Amino acid sequence: MTQDNSSQSEAASQNGGGDLFNTAAGWVLFAAGLGLGLSILSGKYFHGDKPERPEQLGYVIEGAVEESAGPAEMSMAEALNMMPAAELLAAGEKAYSKCQSCHTIDAGGANGIGPNLAGVMGGPVAGKAFGYSAELKALGGNWDWDRMNDWLKNPKAYVSGTKMSFAGLSKVEDRAAIAMYLNSKGANLPVPTFVADAAAGAADGEAAAAEGEAEAVVTAEAGTDPAAATE
Ligand code: HEC
Repeated sequence: MTQDNSSQSEAASQNGGGDLFNTAAGWVLFAAGLGLGLSILSGKYFHGDKPERPEQLGYVIEGAVEESAGPAEMSMAEALNMMPAAELLAAGEKAYSKCQSCHTIDAGGANGIGPNLAGVMGGPVAGKAFGYSAELKALGGNWDWDRMNDWLKNPKAYVSGTKMSFAGLSKVEDRAAIAMYLNSKGANLPVPTFVADAAAGAADGEAAAAEGEAEAVVTAEAGTDPAAATE
């Protein structure tokens, strides 16, 4: 009985050797085929070999700057003069809630994730006792209205390598309001004046006078005969 068994198993192991080889070869072929198929597939879907970027990124971060061919944005000076200073300041105080998670603003306030911002307007860039990024430190100069405008629009674009993880404020109105608020805290830079063109008219009671002036200019340009210009 045992004899038979051993001879049977011997025969089986001899056969099994061949089978095992075939099976192994089969698996190698299968694996090679699978690998090839996968690499074709993944090439189809991932374009790993081509340095392509999708035209539209998958999602939009709120507050991120969208590049569009819209009408030119108004200047910081214009945005700062859009509404009475007190209203702009109130709007800025409200919008500043976006910054509060990382910054304090009252004089002597502690640094958070970002530095305390008291007196930052007009003050030196990266001038606080704070562990700034080397890139922001290298910027130099002082914060003024236009630089603050650029910074708040897109910190990473203005200072690549900055530690400020904030997408930016896409609306110049918001940036103007927040800058106005920053300027009211330990700083007092003069607000730049903005002169609207004569056609847009001046505010309130001056509007009529400005219009009269504008008309007079047109008449003078049209010719010496006032009747020819008046239709
Ligand atoms: C997620 C945290 C975070 C938020 C939100 C944030 N900041 Fe910052 N901010 C930082 C950090 C960090 C730095 C330092 C950047 C560096 O060192 O590169 C910084 C730097 C600054 C600076 C330069 C300060 C200096 O001393 O020169 C200003 C100005 C500033 N932030 C304003 C703002 C305003 C205004 C907002 C809101 C609209 C805001 N930040 C939102 C983290 C933040």
